[in-house]
Amino acid sequence: MSDTIITHTEKDSGVPAIARDFSVTDRIVIITGGGQGLGREFARQFAAAGAIPVIADINEKNARAVAEEITAAGGRALPIAVDVSNKESVDAMAAAVVNQFGRIDVLVNNASIFATLQKRPFDQIPVSEWETVLKVNVTGVFLCTCAVIASMREQGWGRVVSIASDAVPKGVANYLHYVASKAAVIGMTNSMARELGASGITVNAIRPGAVATEVDRTVNHTVEARKRIVDMQCIPRVMVPTDLVGLVMFLCTPAAAFITGQTIACDGGYTHSS
Ligand SMILES: NC(=O)c1ccc[n+]([C@@H]2O[C@H](COP(=O)([O-])OP(=O)(O)OC[C@H]3O[C@@H](n4cnc5c(N)ncnc54)[C@H](O)[C@@H]3O)[C@@H](O)[C@H]2O)c1
Repeated sequence: MSDTIITHTEKDSGVPAIARDFSVTDRIVIITGGGQGLGREFARQFAAAGAIPVIADINEKNARAVAEEITAAGGRALPIAVDVSNKESVDAMAAAVVNQFGRIDVLVNNASIFATLQKRPFDQIPVSEWETVLKVNVTGVFLCTCAVIASMREQGWGRVVSIASDAVPKGVANYLHYVASKAAVIGMTNSMARELGASGITVNAIRPGAVATEVDRTVNHTVEARKRIVDMQCIPRVMVPTDLVGLVMFLCTPAAAFITGQTIACDGGYTHSS
């Protein structure tokens, strides 16, 4: 499975063979927060591409429902109940995956406290809410990544993709704990990539714009607010979960072996990197 060494014989017309491998077939892909929204879509699409998504969510009922949806469509999936902010729970989840499949290939750090958050001025955010958001959105990414790297190191191959947010460069107001948590995810991506590059493990983040999922968020996203967002995008339509799938999946392929420590936007051109 190692794609860290490309020999001369693997080359064809100057293009390393590995660079054309866009497959995620048979990969064991842990998707935290896979029980709804973007995580559910990632799980469905990875399964459709032949991977085995582990739907790891604090909402066990939702995780099971997504797994059933996938198996009913002919795919493979494993639902697991996990609280990403709890080390024992995360370690048990990683152990269960290794026990069942023998390895972990990909971690998508997608779980976060997001849809349930009420926007409010930062000086009105209760300290308890601030701490809870950081515990799930930052400590959760730390704990989950710690829990999977032993298996990835062992096979000399791994992919970590964390879901950050456009809220960081936009400086979205009234969401300071959330914005701070996603800024931390971007910083952690940069540093983890440095520590793991020699082990054949890439670590990247993506920055989605505002994505309409099946979860009702009309409290934070009024029709007017959505229109303002679409007006700022180069591609003038509402973003949907499938818009993110190509980027996330590509980062998990052998073809993306030389991309690490990056945070890549997928937001219809709302923000630009420079
Ligand atoms: N939807 C958007 O517009 C958007 C934009 C930018 C970034 N994002 C990010 O994308 C990711 C998914 O967003 P979404 O809209 O699907 O969010 P969502 O709130 O609909 O789903 C989050 C999922 O995480 C799970 N979860 C929450 N706490 C958990 C915990 N402690 N342990 C395990 N699972 C837990 C929830 O049960 C839920 O299934 C999040 O990281 C979010 O911050 C979303």
